[in-house]
Amino acid sequence: MHTLKIKDLVVQIENKVILNHLNLEIKTGEIHAIMGPNGTGKSTLSKVIMGDSNYEILEGDILFDDKSILHMSVDERARLGIFLGMQMPLEIEGVTNADFLRTAIHSKQGNDFKLMKFIKEMNQICDQLKMDKQMIHRSLNSGFSGGERKKNEILQMYLLKPNTVLLDEIDSGLDVDSLKIVGENVMNYYKNQECGILLITHYQRLLDYIKPDYIHIMMDGKIIKSGDHRLVLEIENQGYEKIKEEILGENS
Ligand SMILES: Nc1ncnc2c1ncn2[C@@H]1O[C@H](COP(=O)(O)OP(=O)(O)OP(=O)(O)O)[C@@H](O)[C@H]1O
Ligand SMILES: [Mg+2]
Repeated sequence: MHTLKIKDLVVQIENKVILNHLNLEIKTGEIHAIMGPNGTGKSTLSKVIMGDSNYEILEGDILFDDKSILHMSVDERARLGIFLGMQMPLEIEGVTNADFLRTAIHSKQGNDFKLMKFIKEMNQICDQLKMDKQMIHRSLNSGFSGGERKKNEILQMYLLKPNTVLLDEIDSGLDVDSLKIVGENVMNYYKNQECGILLITHYQRLLDYIKPDYIHIMMDGKIIKSGDHRLVLEIENQGYEKIKEEILGENS
């Protein structure tokens, strides 16, 4: 059982405050979804949790099992079991997907690493995701289509077996069939692996496959409203601005 707690976090980049007193807690066995307008800081939040050093933390804390992780590198956070499936996965020319995965998993498992087991598992997950096995031997994300990149993030998740999964727009760029495959595979992972999930998405359709316990609306760098799946309908019917106006009205 693990807990990731974002406590009153204020983050800036280039003298611009992006996250503004954000609070959120994700426990093992919970799925949270964050929805919100473009440019409101959703990806920033996911990158800051993972330890991206481009962002400056002005106030607040990020706690994993009640201990601050702010001083930890990306690598150390990954070893705690935190994983980020990125909105725009990076291309790394000259490092094959297989090399990258093998190195990441080897460093996690140490002497317990078994090459044959790794290859077998990688092949099996590729089948499960209906991914072309050639992808494994190509440079990481280089020339991968949008959908291929997203599936590749899920392949990494399955192999690394994180306990805290952050998925930033894992649905963007997926065709309807791939969306179903990715959605079902994430849900399958959740059912079989003890983990907590934070989903960032713009669309209800991903939530046909992945059922969050909590929906949060993020605007202007903080969470302005939380609720259950019914909040998605409210967003679709009213739009973000109207929800924000209502909240401001209630508070004045
Ligand atoms: N490296 C950076 N330099 C300057 N501004 C940045 C940087 N990274 C993020 N920002 C700004 O921070 C704000 C929040 O960006 P972020 O990517 O977190 O938004 P988002 O909520 O994920 O949006 P979207 O829904 O479009 O993905 C944007 O205005 C963005 O331009
Ligand atoms: Mg984003």
